[in-house]
Amino acid sequence: MIVATRSKGKIREIREALKGLGLRIYALSDFLDVLEIEEDGKSFTENALKKARFYSRYFGKLTLADDSGLEVDSLKGLPGIYSARYAGEGASSQENNQKLLREMQGVPLSKRGGGFKCIIAVVSPDGREAIAEGSCKGRIGFREKGKKGFGYDPLFILPKYRKTMAELSLKEKNKISHRGKALKKIRKIIKAFEG
Ligand code: IMP
Repeated sequence: MIVATRSKGKIREIREALKGLGLRIYALSDFLDVLEIEEDGKSFTENALKKARFYSRYFGKLTLADDSGLEVDSLKGLPGIYSARYAGEGASSQENNQKLLREMQGVPLSKRGGGFKCIIAVVSPDGREAIAEGSCKGRIGFREKGKKGFGYDPLFILPKYRKTMAELSLKEKNKISHRGKALKKIRKIIKAFEG
């Protein structure tokens, strides 16, 4: 199976969640000279489907694509579909996190709610398609905390655990995260596609 991403963080979580299905999982970074496509959709769903459809045809293999991001209440849902490039095209996670902290300067804890969203699309070369979603609510912290995970994880506080997402192990994150929830559903769908 192809996972249509170059994100090391996403791949790690996807591999862990799909363990035991007997699938060989390849990422785009495992190949040389792979054609890139633009993520110009207006929603996570459009982008996930676009990536999964394109690469399932390109490789002739079952393909999974994840489109995800952070929606912050006080920023009317931003960075949303722009999460990866919030501080500009090619921005690092740290640059994106710093921009988020700047944009939220002066916002009190009670108004710092937000959530991660993830849409996963799976498309087979013979044209079968499925979509699963997952979300995870939390609060945006005042400073980065934790070294695990990726992206906005060090700023994303899970009040129930009194920890940021970047303080959770891979297994713990997959149990409660937007991506973990979507992957649990997609695991069943992949079984049906393969079976
Ligand atoms: P995509 O590759 O266009 O789907 O962009 C996803 C972006 O959303 C990532 O680059 C991160 O900035 C953010 N993001 C998505 N999922 C997570 C997560 O699990 N933790 C932290 N940041 C995430």
